[in-house]
Amino acid sequence: MFWLGIDIGTGGSRALLIDEKGRVHHACTAPHEEMTMQRPLWAEQRPENWWDAAQQAIRGVLAQAGATGESVRAIGLSGQMHGLTLLDERDEVIRPALIWCDQRSQAQVDWINLKVGKKKVLDCIANPVLTGFTLPKLLWVRDNEPKSFERMRKVLLPKDYVRFRLTGEYASDVSDASGTAMFDVVNRRWSNELVDAVGLNRSILPYVYESQDISGRLTGAAAHATGLQEGTPVVGGGGDQAAGAVGNGIVESGIVSCTIGTSGVVFAHTSKPAYDPEGRVHTFCHAVRGAWHVMGVTQGAGLSLQWFRNQLAPGVPYDSLTAEAATAAPCSQGLYWMPYLMGERTPHLDAAARGGWIGITAKHTRADLIRSVLEGVSYSQKDCLDVIEGMRVPVNSVRVSGGGAQSPFWRQMLSDVFAKPVVTLDMQEGSAYGAAILALVGSGVFGTVTEACHAVVHEVKCVYPRPHETNVYARGHKIYTTLYPTLKPVYRLIQNGG
Ligand code: XUL
Repeated sequence: MFWLGIDIGTGGSRALLIDEKGRVHHACTAPHEEMTMQRPLWAEQRPENWWDAAQQAIRGVLAQAGATGESVRAIGLSGQMHGLTLLDERDEVIRPALIWCDQRSQAQVDWINLKVGKKKVLDCIANPVLTGFTLPKLLWVRDNEPKSFERMRKVLLPKDYVRFRLTGEYASDVSDASGTAMFDVVNRRWSNELVDAVGLNRSILPYVYESQDISGRLTGAAAHATGLQEGTPVVGGGGDQAAGAVGNGIVESGIVSCTIGTSGVVFAHTSKPAYDPEGRVHTFCHAVRGAWHVMGVTQGAGLSLQWFRNQLAPGVPYDSLTAEAATAAPCSQGLYWMPYLMGERTPHLDAAARGGWIGITAKHTRADLIRSVLEGVSYSQKDCLDVIEGMRVPVNSVRVSGGGAQSPFWRQMLSDVFAKPVVTLDMQEGSAYGAAILALVGSGVFGTVTEACHAVVHEVKCVYPRPHETNVYARGHKIYTTLYPTLKPVYRLIQNGG
């Protein structure tokens, strides 16, 4: 018997099969089309492309396993958060989705704060509204594409569009719904108060489940499209960060995770909602019943290295880039990278922030450029960690995962910059794995998510901070933290065109 986890990421959709002991047997990823960026800081993807990729990944993983659909007992979903998928009354996708890193909605954020009041927003959803969240994106469509808005009958998050194609149900889960800016995170249900206050119809929102609960069953059409069996249960699942945290066993306090994918996220479990008074980290429901989490987000983490490679070193494998970076000295001879390629969330909450290098000289080499990119992303993740520790959330060690964690060089750098032990797990699968664990729990193999994590997640390697490098990076981080406040007025000028 297998349990299937599906992650609808930014770069691709991944399907993964585990057994009842949580051992991964097979995994298959189907890439997505590149996000389209009609303007700087805009980002869209086609939901139909997510569904195509998900079908391909499911078929691929079943073929690898030589398995039929009957061998899959239950399915868990995870996916990139915050994206806006709009369906009309015939369930057609109305326009491409505005995805998590799209930053076009500052005017709508300002409108919400004015109309509802910042304090009431916080009371309703436990977070400030940010440009990345779903609600201001929806209001952007209202303000700029009224015909699309009028046609809209349902709003779904990325993985929930795939759930809809699999089960015919309009549904979400508490962790992903938390990132819409319409969810009452404390009480784990939609905030009718906020939805009413901004003038939206409550019926556009899907039903919300706890992450392990069964949200629907595979339809005949979806069975035909994927090779799975009709009637297979699909659990609520989680936003990619909460599902990834389940995959990393972040289900109790003391251990936090750092996941470097396209974005970079520092994530900590909390047993009740915990807030940063400045709203620099998100307070969301965890994919664990009765638990919450805080997370700090770097918008352009893996994206920084991807951008570097695509623009300045096309075709060079990431391993070669990190090997080259290792030949430069810590702090890259005074060169600093600001990873604000898609604005920034933690700690600046500024959609207008821009990326860039400061400190470049004629002596700098490409190795310095690459190293500085890795360092800038690590500093920005350190900013996230500092906010979380400032909230008195204990951090004894950091479990790293995602593409960035594949590099031993980057892992050591993260340990030195964080001044914390950095741990890797035997299982590096993250979100798709967490989704599969949620399916294990949903079908009764384990009683709770925490119990499942204790049984299946194992630490294997730990790197420790090295005193010399930790000191050098502490000085580097101090310089790094001066850059954003200094440049903030310049970002405004750029935004306003002078
Ligand atoms: C989390 C976030 C990203 C996306 C893409 O708040 O926006 O991590 O989920 O992975």
